[in-house]
Amino acid sequence: MNRRYRRTIIAGNWKMNKTPAESKILIEELKPIIAKAKWCETVLCVPFVDIPIAVRLLKDTRVAVGAQNLHQNESGAFTGEVSGAMLKNAGCKYVIIGHSERRQYFGETDALVNAKAHTALNAGLRPIICVGESLEQREMGLTMDLVSLQVKAALANVTVEQLRKVVFAYEPIWAIGTGKTATSEQAAEVCEHIRTVIRKMYGARAARSVTIQYGGSMNAENASELLAQQDVDGGLIGGASLKAKDFIAIVNAANQ
Ligand code: PGA
Repeated sequence: MNRRYRRTIIAGNWKMNKTPAESKILIEELKPIIAKAKWCETVLCVPFVDIPIAVRLLKDTRVAVGAQNLHQNESGAFTGEVSGAMLKNAGCKYVIIGHSERRQYFGETDALVNAKAHTALNAGLRPIICVGESLEQREMGLTMDLVSLQVKAALANVTVEQLRKVVFAYEPIWAIGTGKTATSEQAAEVCEHIRTVIRKMYGARAARSVTIQYGGSMNAENASELLAQQDVDGGLIGGASLKAKDFIAIVNAANQ
């Protein structure tokens, strides 16, 4: 973290978990503690149908609500899809884009990630753009090149003003949901690399204010060490965000 230049952001990614009734219980457990965090921003990226209850319960707190996806078009005949304007109007502030599960199971390409980033920004949402390599790619030594490509593609035609609203999440695929966390050195190295790529595109000043999260089996035990790295400005947390005690511990680690 480097609070002098950028916000620390801890975001929970609930994925396809929690009905509205279940989300109410979890948010009521989390709220008294995470709403008090002053030194980091907290976000709950909940399933679409949980957005209304999350927004209602978190109204007038510092905790923001996010979605996990949006459609790249503004509106129209796209049965089953949800637009940026709908999310914004429902009270979302953030939206996750290009999560590796969407890239893997729903065929999302870098070009689509870029289109969705523009749609989110145009709708007034802050995109949390996910990048990261598979185990195979890491073992082949491709991590840095791949992540550079993903970052550059995601930011195509994004202006420097828009960049201020963008959050990145470095999520090595081999660490997601596996219990295998990247070491703090690995996380630091790639997050720093992401900032270097952004610096080359937008200059030092713009790059130093971008929040770059780490995601992949972040938990109550490893959060402090990961967050102690200069270029690791928060976390995108899956499994551990579904357990109040664990998520609170991570928020507390970021709020030091
Ligand atoms: P995990 O998921 O914390 O369960 O590894 C992170 C993510 O997919 O965003």
